[in-house]
Amino acid sequence: RPAGDCAMVMFGVTGDLARKKLLPALYDLANRGRLPESFSLVGFGRREWSHQEFAEQVKTYVMQRARTDFNEEVWEQLAAGLRFVQASGFEDDAAYEQLGQLLVELQDERGTGGNHAFYLSIPPNSFETVSQKLSVHGLARRAKSADEPWSRVIIEKPFGHDEHSAHELNQAVERVFASDDVFRIDHYLGKETVQNLLALRFANRLFEPLWNNQHIDHVQITMAENIGIEGRASYYDGVGAARDVIQNHLLQLLALTAMEEPISFDADHLRREKEKVLEAVRVPADLGAASARGQYASGTQDGEGVVGFLQEEGFDPDSTTETYAAFKLGIHTRRWDGVPFYLRSGKRLGSRVTEIVVMFKRAPNLLFTQADERQFGQNALIIRIQPNEGATLRLASKVPGTGMEIRDVNMDFSYGRSFTEESPEAYERLILDVLLGEPPLFPRHREVELSWQILDPFIKRWEAMAEQPEPYAPGSWGPASAEELMARDGRAWRVP
Ligand code: BG6
Repeated sequence: RPAGDCAMVMFGVTGDLARKKLLPALYDLANRGRLPESFSLVGFGRREWSHQEFAEQVKTYVMQRARTDFNEEVWEQLAAGLRFVQASGFEDDAAYEQLGQLLVELQDERGTGGNHAFYLSIPPNSFETVSQKLSVHGLARRAKSADEPWSRVIIEKPFGHDEHSAHELNQAVERVFASDDVFRIDHYLGKETVQNLLALRFANRLFEPLWNNQHIDHVQITMAENIGIEGRASYYDGVGAARDVIQNHLLQLLALTAMEEPISFDADHLRREKEKVLEAVRVPADLGAASARGQYASGTQDGEGVVGFLQEEGFDPDSTTETYAAFKLGIHTRRWDGVPFYLRSGKRLGSRVTEIVVMFKRAPNLLFTQADERQFGQNALIIRIQPNEGATLRLASKVPGTGMEIRDVNMDFSYGRSFTEESPEAYERLILDVLLGEPPLFPRHREVELSWQILDPFIKRWEAMAEQPEPYAPGSWGPASAEELMARDGRAWRVP
């Protein structure tokens, strides 16, 4: 269903994310008929742009990145609602006054209904300032009933850098906005394949009876990227892989894989189940043996020479920021007791792939000869989040012939073959949900704080050691210590 009348104000509108994802996603929503005719977008930033110049910029980004075809009529409708407020910084009171006047004008001219979504695509240390200014200037209003205009805020990660800072940040934002009006974006939750985890687990009879420590040996969650830092030094240095993607994307995948069935998909029910499982996560006592970290070195990737992390532009050549991190975690529940969850993520790895591997225990297999150990493994369910979205079930099968030899075969489901419907981009889905006031896909503050609680001991230990992360070759699958982490348990990472 399309969103109702509203306007969006975007802070950080000249940033990487806005250019590459947010603005094109807004156009795609408009093109798919999901935005009301009244929809208006106000950019708030330092550039000295007129409304017209801002619209031209937006058009360039849309032309470069939108997924749907360019439609002049849709563009004209959207462009008529584009405005820009020039500010000297996030403290600039005069700019907030001007923003207030503009929003009133847009309400009169375009019928936005006074409903406002404030998108903070800015560093987290500015969240508090912007929220306060919005409040002081009467722009962030807490609606007392459903008939009153709404004010919602969208915040981008990182939500702090540890549990304490996340808590402070949450408090600062929720002093201004009601907690139901705070939408924390984790774009992995907007991915079709991530939402499908719920369907796969709870709409099928097949998996749930096996989904426990009786039958599952361990779970591996991998998010690998083949790109490097791509000019994001100012964001990435001092953040690193654990904070950048494991605290949010990978722990969300863990939560969806391990949680109990919610009684409904209402925001409260879904989030409560995720929180329960995050609360039950236990970090092993030996933090060193249960984690690995690395930094990509110079080398060649796909036949091309690439510079190492420390030589990338904008980095301190002594930076101890990791570009690869792996963790072993346990979950202290009856269902998962004794089943390790291994999480890993890195830049400049062998390929771009995000997958969840549910590795089952071995069948007794007393009857069968196995010609080759490598060809006959454990049953596994491999859920491919991206690319080549789908799932594979690994089974043992008889090799044709007169003997009784067994080999692994794959049963494969792929989105591309099974569906003709196109998957919306994650940001399209999430932005639409904000405008519709649908919160289930947005983690609430407790989830964010619990995720930090899991990672804090590892990160604090790394920081106290102040050691250089272990180098790894570009195009490889990470540092040797990550392989050792698995080998100590008699297991190995799956090579995607
Ligand atoms: C972002 C991280 O959240 O996710 C980036 O900050 C990373 O470092 C990106 O590259 C990957 O997203 P996707 O959707 O391409 O897997």
